[in-house]
Amino acid sequence: MAPGDLERVLEEGQRRGLIGPAPIEEHVAHARRFGLAVQPLPAPALDLGSGGGLPGLVLATETLGAWTLLDARRRSTAFLRWAVGALGIADRVTILTGRAEELGRDPAHRGRYGTVTARGFGRPGVVAECAAPFLRVGGVLLVSEPPGSPDRWPAPGLAALGLERAGEAREGIQVLRQARRCPDDVPRPVGVPAKRPRF
Ligand SMILES: C[S@@+](CC[C@H](N)C(=O)[O-])C[C@H]1O[C@@H](n2cnc3c(N)ncnc32)[C@H](O)[C@@H]1O
Repeated sequence: MAPGDLERVLEEGQRRGLIGPAPIEEHVAHARRFGLAVQPLPAPALDLGSGGGLPGLVLATETLGAWTLLDARRRSTAFLRWAVGALGIADRVTILTGRAEELGRDPAHRGRYGTVTARGFGRPGVVAECAAPFLRVGGVLLVSEPPGSPDRWPAPGLAALGLERAGEAREGIQVLRQARRCPDDVPRPVGVPAKRPRF
């Protein structure tokens, strides 16, 4: 991959309306903060609701190891498939089209990941409910926090999903740990987590 390829690929994502209007360097810098929050990120890793590839495409390009970029929107995953080809990382990055509530029940994905990242996926209870099924015990969930937000992660709500907070949010990234196996009745059916968030 030549220097600048990642930026050019993300610009194409922006052109297709899959990445917000901020300068690409800002998006890249924000994505890199996920990689600094836990070092190294436990493999394999999954980016939940990857959209135009933030933060997953940046992290997958800059860290070795297996990544899965998941999104329900075909328009996003078509772009991501093109992007990993253009970046020369298609051999270790899988693109998954589908709902997290369904893929999190698939034995090929349930309890299989060491890291799940999420940026802009939804309210905290929705992110946690959709992410926990993918994590193995000891795995980490990294979520971007809106600037200046108060603690959005109630311990009892997390415990019901087998999750716990791993310290305070730092540089806008909250780290949660899958302390126990995610209960079998999680997640609820498609659309229910967002309609009736747990917290
Ligand atoms: C606001 S976008 C954020 C995209 C990217 N992470 C970013 O920060 O630019 C949220 C993405 O999550 C996806 N998404 C939301 N709920 C989902 C679900 N239940 N299953 C799979 N994808 C979902 C949407 O299709 C959308 O692409």
